[in-house]
Amino acid sequence: MTCVINVNLPTQSYEIAIAPGTLDSLGEYMGKLHLGKKVLVVSNPTVFSLYGETAIASLKNTGFQVATCILGDGESYKNLDSIKKIYDLALENRLERSSTMVALGGGVIGDMTGFAAATWLRGINFVQVPTTLLAMVDSSIGGKTGVNHPQGKNLIGAFYQPQFVLIDPDVLQTLPVREFRAGMAEVIKYGIIWNAEFFAQMEASSRLDAMENVTPELMETILKLSCQAKADVVGEDEKEAGLRAILNYGHTIGHAVESLTGYTQVIHGEGVGIGMVAAGEIALSLGMWTAEEAARQNHVIAKACLPTQLPDGLDIEAIVDALQIDKKVKAGKVRFILPTKIGAVTITDQVPSDTIRQVLQKMQSGS
Ligand code: NAD
Ligand code: GLY
Repeated sequence: MTCVINVNLPTQSYEIAIAPGTLDSLGEYMGKLHLGKKVLVVSNPTVFSLYGETAIASLKNTGFQVATCILGDGESYKNLDSIKKIYDLALENRLERSSTMVALGGGVIGDMTGFAAATWLRGINFVQVPTTLLAMVDSSIGGKTGVNHPQGKNLIGAFYQPQFVLIDPDVLQTLPVREFRAGMAEVIKYGIIWNAEFFAQMEASSRLDAMENVTPELMETILKLSCQAKADVVGEDEKEAGLRAILNYGHTIGHAVESLTGYTQVIHGEGVGIGMVAAGEIALSLGMWTAEEAARQNHVIAKACLPTQLPDGLDIEAIVDALQIDKKVKAGKVRFILPTKIGAVTITDQVPSDTIRQVLQKMQSGS
């Protein structure tokens, strides 16, 4: 059953279609947007070998002229060298202002394609076809695009909204289970920061650790309510002047852990899981929410088989230092998003370093 969610922004609005089994209708969906004929599909070898043919056939059948750009798979390719490859293909295929870049992949492909679309000819059309759970519920919506700098994640980027997002949940059937769990971290995040009832629905599920262990009804709810939460928040604050920062719940310590472990030992969603546990413990130490609420959060994170402790051997002072380079630092102070109850958070830069250290010590493996 197709569900359409609108992202309403002051300068541009667009639709997110959640429509099982419709990757082969990508061309029809895009045909309705009155875009130019030239399309550059950006993907990676893993996703392209599974879904490239279907997407391209659909585009060609509806009259689009299609070129492809295949980038390396993984966070280590999320850099300016990959962007240059997209630009080279855009030039070779004479992409024009009316042309479209289509991101077919997870958050890495989506963020890079969006950045290339934002900057090629000062901005061309952009369509997101997310293929990971994380990209479906988070990265494909809201217009944050960019690449990593060797010194830090997502330091180079632009706000640039897609014209359309097509979510075909059927593609999740091939998603590795570790990636499914990583996506669940962002899903659980929406329950904590925005929607207590949604959190309770996840809490009622005995397992959240694999697609086959979640009922189809709950999976539909997960996609719908997560996309709606993201659309609501971005609709109120597109450029992160205030409210949007709450989407960074779990990301402050999460990003530090991810970068210190080379973006492979701990992947993004796993870092967010660890970061949410840390934020919950900090909130508890500061008397902002109760031990019972922290335990409820951590239980749901554990149900998705996400890590709730720091990886072995990670130096606490290195984490504290890494927090300083994060984009969330403002006027030299690290900003934390902390829960005040299930379904609500607050933004603060008043977390004492000693509290951060104590919480991280508590979260060391074996402690
Ligand atoms: P990813 O893009 O690296 O994808 C994870 C892995 O799954 C890859 O190996 C990919 O090839 C594979 N894959 C993708 N779809 C598949 C499918 N259907 N079947 C089989 N394999 C598949 O990782 P991700 O978790 O999707 O995205 C992480 C990135 O997203 C990070 O770079 C993060 O910074 C970014 N992000 C951006 C935002 C935003 O608002 N722009 C939000 C959250 C995360
Ligand atoms: N994932 C954080 C944001 O979109 O703002």
